[in-house]
Amino acid sequence: AQKLILDLDTGVDDALAISYALGSPEVELIGITGTYGNVLLDQGVRNALAITDLLGHPEVKVYKGIPHSSTTDSFEVLDISALIHGKNGIGDVEIPDSNREPETESAVDFIIDAVKTYGKDLTYVPTGPMTNIAAALKKAPEIKDEIGKIVLMGGALTVCGNVNGWEEANISQDPEAADYLFRSGAPATMVGLDVTLQTLLTYKETQIWRDLNTKAGKFLADMTDYYIKAYETTSPHLGGCGLHDPLAVGVAVDPTLITALPINMKVDVEGPTRGRTIGDNTRMNDPVKTMKAAIDVDVPRFLNEFMTRITALAKN
Ligand code: BDR
Ligand code: CA
Repeated sequence: AQKLILDLDTGVDDALAISYALGSPEVELIGITGTYGNVLLDQGVRNALAITDLLGHPEVKVYKGIPHSSTTDSFEVLDISALIHGKNGIGDVEIPDSNREPETESAVDFIIDAVKTYGKDLTYVPTGPMTNIAAALKKAPEIKDEIGKIVLMGGALTVCGNVNGWEEANISQDPEAADYLFRSGAPATMVGLDVTLQTLLTYKETQIWRDLNTKAGKFLADMTDYYIKAYETTSPHLGGCGLHDPLAVGVAVDPTLITALPINMKVDVEGPTRGRTIGDNTRMNDPVKTMKAAIDVDVPRFLNEFMTRITALAKN
C-alpha cells in the first residue's frame, strides 16, 4: 500500500479526511502531523489522537507541528473557524480523550524521515496551513525530488476565496509557507475551492451514519451535522457542506477523480491580493510543470467513494 501522511488542523472536515484515509485499503496512514488553523495546535493534536482511537486505529502516530505561521510567533483561532468547526474543532461533540501522547519527534523531522524511508511511495496530504511542509523543505531541500507526491487542500484558481474574494483559509493562514511549497519544485496537486465546493454533503448522508447505531457512526453524524448547520448560515446557496479535506485524500488515493491543469503556481505574498493562488508568470513558459491544479471533479463518483468507505469504517 501507498504510505500516507495527513497534516491536519483537525476540524470537522479534517476528521472526515482521517476517516476517508482509514477506510481506504489502497493507503496506509503512517502518521498524522498536527498544525494550527481551525483550532490551536494542541487541540488539533488532541482531536487527532481521540478520533483515531474512536475509529479503532490507535496505531496511528500523531506528531506535533509548528504552532503558528512562518512569519508570526503566535496564533489565535478566528471567530469564523470556531463558528464552522465548533470551539473544540469537532462540532463541539464530546468524545473521550486518548490516553496516548503525541510522539516526541517533531512533525518536521518525521516528514523528512518518512521521505527518506519511503521515497516515491510516500504521499503527503496537508489540509491546513502549509507551515510544516515549508519548514521541512527548508531544512532538507532534497526531499522535493525524493517524495512521491503532495496533494494539498487549499487555494482557489477559477473561483473566489472563502476568506475574501481571493484568499482560501488554509493559504491565508500562512501565504509565505504556501508560496515556498508552490515554488519549491515539489510535485504538488492543488485541490482547492474550485473542486471542494462542488462536493457537498447533506443531512441525508449523515443519517446513514446515525442509523448504523455505532459509536463511530453517531460521532461522525453529530459532528458533521454541526458543520452542515454552520454552512446553512454562512453559505446557504450551497445546499450542503464542503468536503474540502476528504476530497484531497480522495485524490491522493485516486487521481482520476479530478481533471487537473498542469501549471507552475505561486502565492501572492505582497500587495492587495496577498494570499491569492495563481499561475507564476516568471515560470509560465517553463516546459516542466511541477504542480497541477484541480479544476473539475467527478462529483457522483467521489461522493459514492466517500460514503462507501466511511460507512464501512463506521460500521464497527
Ligand atoms: C479549509 O479550511 C479549513 O477550515 C478546512 O478544514 C479546510 O481545510 C477550507 O478552506
Ligand atoms: Ca483543514
